[in-house]
Amino acid sequence: MREHKPLNEYFSSKMFEFESLNIDEYKKKSELLIQDILEINKSDIYTKNYHVPYEKIQLLENAFLKLKKNTPVQHILGKSFFYNDEFFTPPGTFIPRPETELIIDCVRNDFPILEKKNVLEVGSGTGCLSISIAKLYKNFFVTGIDISKKAIKTSIKNANKLNCSNVQFAEKDFFNMNFNHYDIIISNPPYLSVDEIDSLDKSVKNHDPFIALSDNKDGLSFYKFFINNIDLFLKKDGIMYFEIPNSPITESIIGLVKKNKKISSDIFKDFEGNNRVIKIYFNIK
Ligand SMILES: C[S@@+](CC[C@H](N)C(=O)[O-])C[C@H]1O[C@@H](n2cnc3c(N)ncnc32)[C@H](O)[C@@H]1O
Repeated sequence: MREHKPLNEYFSSKMFEFESLNIDEYKKKSELLIQDILEINKSDIYTKNYHVPYEKIQLLENAFLKLKKNTPVQHILGKSFFYNDEFFTPPGTFIPRPETELIIDCVRNDFPILEKKNVLEVGSGTGCLSISIAKLYKNFFVTGIDISKKAIKTSIKNANKLNCSNVQFAEKDFFNMNFNHYDIIISNPPYLSVDEIDSLDKSVKNHDPFIALSDNKDGLSFYKFFINNIDLFLKKDGIMYFEIPNSPITESIIGLVKKNKKISSDIFKDFEGNNRVIKIYFNIK
């Protein structure tokens, strides 16, 4: 195997190039790229005797070019970790966030592992939530819907890669679909108001799809539709779990629930102490 320059020198020269650029956490991101592309440990980057193999140089250079454009590592490598597994997350798809895992913990609190339930996920993205739940609950059947063709293609690829057969994905617009009644409904909907988009970090604003971030209105569209039409798609003893933002929008969501006398809600906090999941259910079971 022919070798390029020592890795520690290559890494130092890259860090020098990044110093003048405005890229958040560039050192940590660069380490992740190198570790993945060269299949080495972090400590190997800093030892004197590891050389970059010639055949990997172009791959590294391409990855660093993308990082300089603030492309998220998960899009450069095309994969992300979520809950227990690694998922394909190609450019054009929403990158799963660790705080979303709280939805799974909430479901686990309420449903024993052998239960048999029909689950709907609205806005399934790369399929990380639907697949993680389907893998935990072998007797659940999970349907994920998303308006994005790319998301649906990716989620099907993820289900196949993870050998998950009790899940299906379909390209549908939530606001224009026919509903069945489900036992469980989950969603991490686009909840940013259109005014919030400008203030986002470039790595989010320019790379996560706009339709995954915002409803192009006040951020409330999905919650309003879920809460106002709950009879259309939730069984009387069913439960809905939604991710909620750490913003004033959450107060409005709680207000919407209070207005509907047939339902109640509980709020759950994430590991940073922020309100993160709302659980909604009918008062009379
Ligand atoms: C915040 S992302 C969540 C993705 C995934 N569930 C996750 O947590 O990683 C929201 C998803 O909703 C989808 N979406 C946006 N508008 C939609 C609509 N009208 N109907 C169905 N899905 C929609 C987006 O394409 C995106 O994949």
